[in-house]
Amino acid sequence: MRSREAYVRALPKAELHLHIEGTLEPELAFRLAQKHGVALPYADVAELRAAYDFTDLQSFLDVYYALADVLQDADDFYELALSYLQRAHEQGVVHVEIFFDPQTHTARGVAFGTVVEGLHRALIEAERRFGMTHRLIACFLRHLSAADAMLTLDEVLAHREIIAAVGLDSSEVGHPPSKFAAVFEIAREQGLFTVAHAGEEGPPAYIHEALDVLAVRRIDHGVRCEEDAELMRRLAREQIALTVCPLSNVKLGVFERIEQHNLKRLLEAGLRVTVNSDDPAYFGGYLLENYLAVERALGLTSEQLAILARNSIEGSFLDAAAKRRWLAAIDECARAELAY
Ligand code: HPA
Ligand code: ZN
Repeated sequence: MRSREAYVRALPKAELHLHIEGTLEPELAFRLAQKHGVALPYADVAELRAAYDFTDLQSFLDVYYALADVLQDADDFYELALSYLQRAHEQGVVHVEIFFDPQTHTARGVAFGTVVEGLHRALIEAERRFGMTHRLIACFLRHLSAADAMLTLDEVLAHREIIAAVGLDSSEVGHPPSKFAAVFEIAREQGLFTVAHAGEEGPPAYIHEALDVLAVRRIDHGVRCEEDAELMRRLAREQIALTVCPLSNVKLGVFERIEQHNLKRLLEAGLRVTVNSDDPAYFGGYLLENYLAVERALGLTSEQLAILARNSIEGSFLDAAAKRRWLAAIDECARAELAY
């Protein structure tokens, strides 16, 4: 039998929950800080890595927003994204749906267009080099006002041809999805797909709201759905994809240990669970490491790993023909694994 790692790497996979700012590795952060003369509140890479000892979502976000200061010109965003895309390609990722946080950058005087230009250039380059397809998702920071999100939506709409969807991230508790009802309504009317972080630290009621008030197509994280049996049945019935991020959940204390993660239970309850890396530079692993972490800790079968890969394609914003092609390729890969 070949290794589980070789099998998981070979499975064609989509990554649906990835914050591009969360792929900023310490080495690149220090290099860009030097390039732009930005002072980081850490002496060196080792001291920075030592600060990655998070207790909850907010303790992570504080470091994540501080480090984003080094991203200043379009080349920075290009380099950031291309490094991630190269790595994802080496791990068998065939399609990416990438989040970015426009307000983190526009608040510092970096133009929306600068961010999008760099990211888009990298995505096109990855398509040319690796045949990797993509969708770009602009996330609103939920700790800021709905009025601020509305202004950001205007900029999203001005770049409508390269942005496929809008999402909602940052500090969850106290900032329910309903705060952004009007923004999401306009986004949907304008033909954008919608997603939202819900049920990471926030209660199951936020997942209900994201579905009922924001009419999102999938839920980012969503792991706290398990506290609401009716919601579990609904997610299974409607096959709403959950973009689960196992290593992130452990790093931010959503689950104390990976062995306690509920991914396998959600999967076995028939929910459309996917595996994702969230902010891999901060949480100790990219997509492959997330798959392998749950495979080892929870004892997933080869078929369950294939289901996770299928769910990532089914839950993506790819068109039906592309989905069919990747699903057939996953079936082929799973068959070959069983024949070993
Ligand atoms: N949750 C909320 N906001 C975020 C996250 C997350 O996991 N990662 C980056 N911004
Ligand atoms: Zn996230």
